[in-house]
Amino acid sequence: MPDAKIAVLISGRGSNLKALLDACADPDFPAEIALVISNKPKAGGLEFARKAGVTQAVIDHRDFETREEFDAAVTERLRAAKVDYICLAGFMRMLSPDFVDEWRSRLINIHPSLLPAFRGLHVQERTLDSGVKIAGCTVHFVSAEMDAGPIIGQAAVPVLPGDTVETLSARILEQEHRLYPASLRLIVDGGARISGAVVQYDSQIQCAGSLINPPTD
Ligand code: GAR
Repeated sequence: MPDAKIAVLISGRGSNLKALLDACADPDFPAEIALVISNKPKAGGLEFARKAGVTQAVIDHRDFETREEFDAAVTERLRAAKVDYICLAGFMRMLSPDFVDEWRSRLINIHPSLLPAFRGLHVQERTLDSGVKIAGCTVHFVSAEMDAGPIIGQAAVPVLPGDTVETLSARILEQEHRLYPASLRLIVDGGARISGAVVQYDSQIQCAGSLINPPTD
């Protein structure tokens, strides 16, 4: 089977994009990144795309009057590139219901919390303020609601005494960079699919060494 074509949508630093690019560089990985779109002209992640020789597009949301017009411009690029899946990687804009509908079950996001806890912004700060002892990240299919939709995989990390937003974010990010490629591989390989509000599995996420659920073996 030919590699699945992936588009990655970013707004900033792009460390998850980098993790996905690195994974796709392995000839055994069943996907290739065909397109990177940023809604911010100065997103640092664009440099990772450039270095990897991947087509990149800046579609600045400020050039559009409505969310729907912006989403239509993004859709046009995605259709032209004939992508199979879209990975949101630090893409900090809500997508319109029509967009989510069109790409349903092919639209994936990563979020730095164990959803459904701590949706939205300032996640690590709110995590620390809440006093929870376990934090983590979630890869999920996207629904029209923010940071919601059927969960594909989660990885957990401890919240340690003395943690700051920076130290906790770094610990979670390390797991994001493992969980996202592993989850993408599972989906592209057809090892999991949406069933109502949840995901059903035919195989496991391959991501040894992390506390990941569903378990790897
Ligand atoms: C990541 O921590 C990602 O989980 C988060 O933004 C960061 C992007 O970092 N996404 C969200 O909060 C989505 N709601 P990156 O640009 O280095 O990948």
